[in-house]
Amino acid sequence: MTLYDEAWWEERYAHGHTQWSGRPNDVLVAETADLTPGTALDVGCGTGGDAIWLAGRGWQVTGVDLSRTALGRAAAAAAEALLAHRTTWQYADVTTWTPPPDAFDLVTSAFLHVPAGGRDDVLARLAAAVAPGGTLLVAQHDPSDLHTVRHGQDPDLFATGEQLAAALPAGEWEVLVAEARPRLGRSHEGEDLPMADAVLKARKR
Ligand SMILES: C[S@@+](CC[C@H](N)C(=O)[O-])C[C@H]1O[C@@H](n2cnc3c(N)ncnc32)[C@H](O)[C@@H]1O
Repeated sequence: MTLYDEAWWEERYAHGHTQWSGRPNDVLVAETADLTPGTALDVGCGTGGDAIWLAGRGWQVTGVDLSRTALGRAAAAAAEALLAHRTTWQYADVTTWTPPPDAFDLVTSAFLHVPAGGRDDVLARLAAAVAPGGTLLVAQHDPSDLHTVRHGQDPDLFATGEQLAAALPAGEWEVLVAEARPRLGRSHEGEDLPMADAVLKARKR
């Protein structure tokens, strides 16, 4: 089984395989429209598409990733967008990193696929970093995408929105969205490809 570790991601970024980055994800754009800008943590931020988009809307964003190459590109893109003052880029491996508790108005993570064995633990630590009244937003490939994604075709990496929601401490969270959301992806040949995102959006009480 492939280990999707720092070396694997660095190798991908080194070869320019960053087709998912550079623009905000649909889920982020839709699900943050009703939020008042504050502090945000983008976990597995890659080259910063989501974080920079948030910064452009007034959020103060910390982007975290285990690829230093991706973080360097994110910082350069933020500077080019004149948003360096609203962004901080931090190297960390979320499988071991504990973010500061109750610190962010929004904690978001897009297409960071943690193997099932560590997923709940990572999610619990990310959830703990949300300030009371703040929002946790997770989007990743729905298990129904198993046949379409080009990498990470390991069922162990996939979870439904409901499975993600089940990892949150009961009573502490109001789950607003836990679903499979259809999306049009792109095939290698550039054709539309029906896909779905597993989405979790929850508010900390
Ligand atoms: C598919 S990319 C998504 C990037 C970005 N969120 C987006 O949607 O464009 C997944 C990102 O998660 C990062 N990543 C993977 N495992 C990680 C870990 N354990 N800790 C921190 N970042 C990780 C990778 O380096 C990569 O940048």
